[in-house]
Amino acid sequence: MVLPDHALINTIIAGKKLIYKPVVNPIMLFQKSLVSIEDVSTEDIEEIFRISDNMVKALEAHKNPHIMDSYVMATLFFEPSTRTRLSFESAMLRLGGSVLSVSDVSSSSVAKGETLADTVRMAEAYSDIIVIRHPLEGAARLATQFTGKPIINAGDGSGQHPTQTLLDLFTIWKEFHSIDGLTISMVGDLKYGRTVHSLIMALSRYDVTINLVSPPSLRVPEHFLAKIPRGKKVKITENLDDVIESSDVLYVTRIQKERFADKNEYLGLIGSYSVDERVVEKMKKSAIIMHPLPRVDEIKPEVDFTSNARYFKQASYGVPVRMALVSMIMGVA
Ligand code: NCD
Repeated sequence: MVLPDHALINTIIAGKKLIYKPVVNPIMLFQKSLVSIEDVSTEDIEEIFRISDNMVKALEAHKNPHIMDSYVMATLFFEPSTRTRLSFESAMLRLGGSVLSVSDVSSSSVAKGETLADTVRMAEAYSDIIVIRHPLEGAARLATQFTGKPIINAGDGSGQHPTQTLLDLFTIWKEFHSIDGLTISMVGDLKYGRTVHSLIMALSRYDVTINLVSPPSLRVPEHFLAKIPRGKKVKITENLDDVIESSDVLYVTRIQKERFADKNEYLGLIGSYSVDERVVEKMKKSAIIMHPLPRVDEIKPEVDFTSNARYFKQASYGVPVRMALVSMIMGVA
């Protein structure tokens, strides 16, 4: 196992009087894959928050902690991505590591008919950690069967998106200094939206009220709902007005156009929710609006200038949170 290089990080950030505290238990995520948000414990999440916060400070001070110089990350993206791939790659580069990327499968051997298994075996041979996004639910779990190297699920179809959840939770924690006690309302495509599936499972561990707002045809699938423990306060509604005044966090999502077999069904759902200034006026002053992005028309541009908008800040946390996660998995945090 690689020993955590705390002295090096402290030297790097010493100028800003930041003292890097080592991971409580450095082996907690060491060499582990992250496929489902259930792969991390609540203690792991707290540790990720703490290290992410250190990374935020290091980034603000323009002190990149070069602790991963001898590591290579492979990013295999079989689906479009802007934030997730760029923030993983930025995280790795800011840690001093290197990145190999397949972002356009038509330029890789997948276009020749290579299987996922063989692509993963090759990524294993050329890198130390593999980040994968794939249109099929279960693809990241399947990938773990073909490699001993850690796999990070960067979104598997309508399944999960656990690293998005880590940065979503970090955003909430940074804003409210706690997750317990909050009312969190998720709005939009809760059927196909993988970010909400992982977020619901993670939030179920905290003392929160969860509101699920969607058209009836886009409700959270039963197998994800079943993960919410009995006794948790959950409201399922179609009507945004039912939850808007009580929400601390409004987590808005895009209708996942690419998942619909029937394009007419999608067309009938466009514009189901639209968060505009009139919606914002009904919200608590302290409430925040989040969105994993990209947005289409579900949050109007005018909302960007309100004090409640947090989606760009949220996206920016993708880098420090992924820096924390990757360095913990590699055993150098
Ligand atoms: C999300 C995704 O890919 O699931 N985007 C992201 O990773 N930030 C949400 C979406 O595409 O709607």
